[in-house]
Amino acid sequence: MQLIKDYVEQHKERLLSELFALLRFPSVSADPKYKTEVLKTAEFVADKLRDSGADNVEVCQTAGYPIIYGEKTIDSSKPTVLVYGHYDVQPPDPLELWKTPPFEPTIRDGKIYARGACDDKGQFYMHVKAFELMMQTNTLPCNIKFMIEGEEEVGSSNLGIFVKQNKNRLKADVVLISDTSMISMENPSLETGLRGLSYLEVEVTGPNRDLHSGVYGGAVANPATTLAKMIASLHDENNHITIPGFYDKVIELTNAERKALNDAPYDEDEYKKDLEVDELWGETGFSTLERTGTRPTLEVNGIWGGYIGEGAKTVLPSKAFAKISMRLVPNQVSDEITQLFTTHFEKIAPRSVKVKVTPHHGGEPVVTPTDSIAYKAAQKAIKESFGKDPIPTRGGGSIPIVALFEAELGLKTVLMGFGLDSDALHSPNEKYDIYNYYKGIETIPLFHKYFAELSAGQ
Ligand code: BES
Ligand code: MN
Ligand code: MN
Repeated sequence: MQLIKDYVEQHKERLLSELFALLRFPSVSADPKYKTEVLKTAEFVADKLRDSGADNVEVCQTAGYPIIYGEKTIDSSKPTVLVYGHYDVQPPDPLELWKTPPFEPTIRDGKIYARGACDDKGQFYMHVKAFELMMQTNTLPCNIKFMIEGEEEVGSSNLGIFVKQNKNRLKADVVLISDTSMISMENPSLETGLRGLSYLEVEVTGPNRDLHSGVYGGAVANPATTLAKMIASLHDENNHITIPGFYDKVIELTNAERKALNDAPYDEDEYKKDLEVDELWGETGFSTLERTGTRPTLEVNGIWGGYIGEGAKTVLPSKAFAKISMRLVPNQVSDEITQLFTTHFEKIAPRSVKVKVTPHHGGEPVVTPTDSIAYKAAQKAIKESFGKDPIPTRGGGSIPIVALFEAELGLKTVLMGFGLDSDALHSPNEKYDIYNYYKGIETIPLFHKYFAELSAGQ
């Protein structure tokens, strides 16, 4: 441990400046205007992997953005860890809410502010640098493979194909990912599940053109009003989702599981204060931790239609739109939920409008084992580095590819995230604590050490 700490201490300036260089690339996968920058980011990641000591580094072309692969085999009789991460980021909008520009990383109060600081550049880069550390100190205890993609934030569809086509190259014993959150630095935790996702867009059409709202208003259904009513009807008075069959496959937690989950430290006042809300909301009968970790949800991500420019325009819009996502829990199936939504949404539409539902990407929920050697290795690593046993939690977010690692490669995943929910992922002023960055670089080699040791003792 002292060796690790010394290395980080000695190289701390460079470890940080390299991350800053990575954060300066606006690698927004959702918006084609950033295409050249995303491609440059891929090259940068490949260079850094190579510099850190990886062999066979390749920028693997796909129908979308490239996947960076690299590996180090020290002994084929030793276990292999497959590290996954993503170099793409969410769009930075709304730009005017950033205190400092999203692609000019800035330190304030010990935290790095930049898009991607936590999700996921700051986190996957810890693995690249932990690998460098193990190479430089001659302490890499097992084989390692890296797979860093550039389309996580847009659904990883090309990675799915890559995984299917590269089963041999990706052979490993476990997948290790840092792309999730901890409760806090004082209460280290390991996420043991991710929710699935079904994402779609709806379009409600009324009259064949925008109308004068005085001449026609009152006689023709307004698609915006109609859409708002339809959306509102998707939750009942207990905030249950009203789509028939929606909960049919949901696995209810046992009382013991619920209790364990709710034993995790959680400060409701702090939570509300951080978000500046006076009251929380959610499905009756469940705590906040259950609502975000173990229950399926339905959210409107955006809603628009009619005139939204400066000033006032009296208009009855022809169309209204919304982007809707549903977070899924075991054993819900993304395609099935999309179908249930579509059928229901078409059914509840009044005859005065027509509706069109277009599915986007989806992903399946996962739960990761807590009795595996890899989970125990993560537990031991965190215990040693934080001085506390990690608390198992369920995360609310999704990493759709994790279910595919299991289905296609037969690999279980360990989610060893070092972010915080308050790091403002996908929001303006995303941040990552410098302390967490170094702490991650220190903890990761311990994971490899214990994973190799526990595997050998099997
Ligand atoms: N890293 C997040 C997922 C995450 C965040 C999991 C925090 C647990 C805690 C990931 O980059 C992400 O944002 N995923 C998307 C899904 C994707 C298909 C756009 C999400 O969860 O919305
Ligand atoms: Mn992420
Ligand atoms: Mn994300």
